[in-house]
Order: sequence, then structure tokens, then C-alpha cells
Amino acid sequence: MKLLEKLVNSYSVSGLENDARQLLINELEGLGDISVSTMGNLTLHIKGNGEKMLFAAHMDQIGLMVTYIEDGGFLRFATVGGIEPRDILNQRVRFQNGTIGCVCYGEKKEIKDIKLSDMYIDIAAKDKEDAEKKVSIGDCAVYDASFMKNGDYVVSPYLDNKVGCYVLAEAAKRIKNPTKDLYFVFTVQEEIGLRGAKVAAFDIMPDYAIALDVTACGETPDGYKMAVKTGEGIAIKVKDNSLIAHPAVKNMIASAAEKAGKKYQYEVLEFGGTDGGALQLSGNGIPTGVISIPTRYTHTANETANIKDITDAIDVICEIAK
Ligand code: CO
Ligand code: ZN
Repeated sequence: MKLLEKLVNSYSVSGLENDARQLLINELEGLGDISVSTMGNLTLHIKGNGEKMLFAAHMDQIGLMVTYIEDGGFLRFATVGGIEPRDILNQRVRFQNGTIGCVCYGEKKEIKDIKLSDMYIDIAAKDKEDAEKKVSIGDCAVYDASFMKNGDYVVSPYLDNKVGCYVLAEAAKRIKNPTKDLYFVFTVQEEIGLRGAKVAAFDIMPDYAIALDVTACGETPDGYKMAVKTGEGIAIKVKDNSLIAHPAVKNMIASAAEKAGKKYQYEVLEFGGTDGGALQLSGNGIPTGVISIPTRYTHTANETANIKDITDAIDVICEIAK
């Protein structure tokens, strides 16, 4: 899990993925051909003679982008990716240069009316001039929360989708002499509309594509009505707002899980999408499926996933790649 922790701590707000990408390049060096596309997608190619198989995980993370600096030195911001006001209120955040702030809300305001536009980041600046020494318009902040193991679970911001990158990297390290021709793609800008994935398959045109990402679960009090539970194995996506999984790929994942002796569950997500939604639309279309890691509280500072589900995903990828 050391690599997962390092990935979580690597700064990679959508469009600024360099730190996470460099970390992955260092990790994957020597395993195959490594290339970086114009948009910034990182691809590891492990050659085999069989069908072309593309695995994708996005390496970008959500964040807060500075839009305006008040005379008092307080920062107004826009979101990069989907962030709920309640999830960031009173959270400590960190800019790429190490500047720390806290997301605050007018003390006289009613909490039920909470809006992002009424919030600000307090970086403990004296005034605007002081703040400008530390941040510029367009700089982005991320949750300044740490990675931890808690019993059978990991609790951390940005498991979405550092956990997908971790699973792919660990699988790539284990696979030796695959029969399939393997492409591991770490995509950029998923959180703002699957943008990296839109071009990821362009020059590969695989026979099949599988995206890895987190998904929601239905087990928490007053949570979603959803038949996915953490600790019950990987989730094989049936549908979300971006794709209906191709039956051939869905079956490929399920039979690999069975062969590897791993539990799995089927997932219908009634909101959101993944890189799979973009991959399936490349060229004439690519049969695409998604392996999901069930995760509580996605897009918060305390995303919570079961460690066994994560290690199972690595085994299933290795089985598919054989
Ligand atoms: Co996300
Ligand atoms: Zn994601």
C-alpha cells in the first residue's frame, strides 16, 4: 500500500497531473514501452501476440481553483470536478507550492443555504498583497488530509482514482510474458469530462477496453439505495451515466474473477461516469467494461475502501491479462 499512499500524496489536479505521472513513470520503468501523449496520458505497453487489451485509470484528482482574491486576502474559488459544498466546508486544503488554507463560510450565514460562491479559502494572509505572495489566480488546492489504514479499510482523500492507478501499476509489475497485447493507460482530466480518455484509445484502437475507477456503495445510514457493498469484492459495472458495459467485456471480467476465485458484484450507478464512457466511443467503437472499487464518501477527504477489494482487483486484472 506504500505506492497507494505516495499516489494519494502526489499533486495531480486535472490538467496538472505531472507529479502523479512522474511517480508512475518511475514505478513502471523497465516493464515495457512508456510514452506520454500530447494531452498528458501515460501509456505502458507490455507486448504480447494476442488481442489488444487496454486498461485505463485516471490519475487526475478534483480540486479548488482560485478565481478572485478579496482585499482582505481571502480567496474565492471555482471547483475542478464535482465537489459538494458540505464536503469541503472547514476542510484544510493545500496548494501545489505548499501553501495551506482552510475552506470557510460566513459566520453569520445560515448553513442550510450553503453555496460554494459564499465560501472562501483563508490562507492566513494579512491582506490581498500578502495573499498574492503565496497564490495566483488559477492556482489549485487539494484536501490536506492524510492516508491511513483503519482495520480492513483505507481512509484517504483521492482514492478516486489513485486506487485505480495503484491497481494497474501493481498488476503491470506482476504480469510476465502475457498472451494478450497489453496497454496500461493512466489518463488525465477525467474529473472534468473524461477528456484524456477521449484521445487515449486513438492510436491504440484496442479490441477491448476496461476502465478502473471507484464507485459508490449502498451500505451507509441514509445512503444510496444501491446493491454494492464494500468488502464484497470488485464491482462489475452494468451501467452508469456514461456507458452501458459491453456484455462480452462484462463476461470477461466475471469469468476472470471466478477463475481467480474472487467474489464480485454487479453495479448499477445512477449518477456519474467513468473513462469507460469515452473509451467505448473511439473509432468505430470499442467493447468496453469497468471494474469498480466500492468506496464510501467519494469526493470527500475521507473516501473509504476495503483493502481486500483492492487486492482482488489486482488479481482479476492479472487473470484477464494472461
Ligand atoms: Co471522481
Ligand atoms: Zn474517478
